[in-house]
Amino acid sequence: TLSTLIGLPTDVGASRLGAAMGPDALRVAQLGPALERLGVQVSDLGNLAGPGNPRGARDAQGLRNLAECLSWNQIAHDAVLQVLQQNRLPILLGGDHTLATGSISAVARHCRATGKQLRVLWLDAHSDCNTPDSSPTGNLHGMPVSSLCGLGPAQLAALSGATPALPASSFCQIGLRSVDESEKHMIRELGLEVYDMRAIDELGMREVMRRSLVSLLGRNDRDIHLHLSFDVDFLDPDIAPGTGTPVRGGPTYREAQLCMEMIADTGRLASLDIVELNPALDLRNQTAELVVDLVQSLFGQSTLMREPRGVLQC
Ligand code: ARG
Ligand code: MN
Ligand code: MN
Ligand code: MN
Repeated sequence: TLSTLIGLPTDVGASRLGAAMGPDALRVAQLGPALERLGVQVSDLGNLAGPGNPRGARDAQGLRNLAECLSWNQIAHDAVLQVLQQNRLPILLGGDHTLATGSISAVARHCRATGKQLRVLWLDAHSDCNTPDSSPTGNLHGMPVSSLCGLGPAQLAALSGATPALPASSFCQIGLRSVDESEKHMIRELGLEVYDMRAIDELGMREVMRRSLVSLLGRNDRDIHLHLSFDVDFLDPDIAPGTGTPVRGGPTYREAQLCMEMIADTGRLASLDIVELNPALDLRNQTAELVVDLVQSLFGQSTLMREPRGVLQC
C-alpha cells in the first residue's frame, strides 16, 4: 500500500481549542514509522496552511467560523482528491471533525469519476448530523454527516460537485452515546444505520462489526471504496482523554482493536480520517499513541500470521 499523510491543523469547527495540534502529536507518536513497519509506504505532505481560529461568536445563522470552516474543507477536499488521483491512500490528520466534509466530498468525487461504490464507516461517540437549524452549539464539527447528505450549510454540501455527496444509506455509524434530540429525529429521517453503545453492550463488538460490514460491503466486490472516519472520541475517555468532547462509556481497548482488525480483514479500506485528537487535553501523548496502535491494527497488524477472512465468514 502507498499512503499519504495530510496534516490539517485546525480547530475552527469546534468550540474548544487544541485539535489543531493533532497532526504533530500523531507524528510524535510515530504514526509514519509504525505504518512502514507493516509494509505501508508512507509519504507526508506536512501540515497544510489555512486560516487561523478567530474564535468567532455565532453568526446570524447560528454558526461559528463558517468562512474558516469552508476554507479548511476546500483545502482538505483538494488535498485528498490529489492523493486519490495518485492512486494512494489518503490519511487525513485532523483537526476537528468538520474536515470530514471536505475529505469525504473528495472521496465521493473520486468514486463518481472512477465508477466505485463509496461506503463510509463512522466511528464516533456522536452522530454529527446536526443542521444549522438544529445545532445546539453552532459548531460545524457536529454537522459533517448532514452536510454530506445535502442538508448542511449550502457551500459545504456542494463541495463534492454533486449534492448530496452521497446518500445516507452509504453510511454506518458505530459507538454513539451522545445524540442531541434533533439528531435522533434526523437519524430516523435519513434512515442512518447506527449502532450505539447499547447495541455494542447487547450484541458485542464482533456482531456489531459483522452486521455493519455486511451491510456496507455486501459481497465485498472490488468496486467498493471503504472510507473510515475515525473520531478519537469514539474511544472510552479513560483510555483516550485527549479529545475535546469526551463522553464516558465508550469502547474498551480490546473492543476498539477488534473493530480495527475486522476492518483490516475486509481489504477494502481506501481512505481514512483521524480527527478530534486534542493534545492539550492529553496525558503525555497517550491518546496519540493509542491511536497509532489502533491504526496499526487497521492496516493489518495481528498477533498471529494473518489470514484475511471474508466479511461473511467472520
Ligand atoms: N452534538 C454536539 C454538537 O452538535 C457535539 C458534536 C461533537 N462532534 C464532534 N465531532 N466531536 O455540537
Ligand atoms: Mn482510486
Ligand atoms: Mn465525536
Ligand atoms: Mn465526530
